[in-house]
Amino acid sequence: MAARLPEHVEGSAYYIVAEALTNPAKHARASAATVTVEVDARDAVLRVAVCDDGAVGADFARCTGLVGLKDRAAALGGRIVRQSPRGAGTSLRAGLP
Ligand SMILES: Nc1ncnc2c1ncn2[C@@H]1O[C@H](COP(=O)(O)OP(=O)(O)O)[C@@H](O)[C@H]1O
Ligand SMILES: [Mg+2]
Repeated sequence: MAARLPEHVEGSAYYIVAEALTNPAKHARASAATVTVEVDARDAVLRVAVCDDGAVGADFARCTGLVGLKDRAAALGGRIVRQSPRGAGTSLRAGLP
């Protein structure tokens, strides 16, 4: 069986993936999204990335759901960043210690 992480880290990772997968379906007409979850043993951080190939939404500045994700990551001492390179979808990357 794979090693388990502290419950609050696993729970936050679940919440981040759930929200980050809802957005491309809801806002971006994405055809695919990939989720990558890995433990970086060098600095004991769980890295979660959700990348989609959809259009970038007009309302990204408002970002209420994304603010919730940032707060959740920050509460654990982690961070989450969004990247939307022009024409290349959206990616959310979180690092949770
Ligand atoms: N993956 C995404 N692709 C394109 N646009 C997005 C994506 N995620 C968020 N957005 C844009 O950012 C806005 C805010 O997203 P979010 O904070 O999750 O709030 P909500 O989903 O409740 O509208 C969305 O209304 C949408 O315009
Ligand atoms: Mg949302």
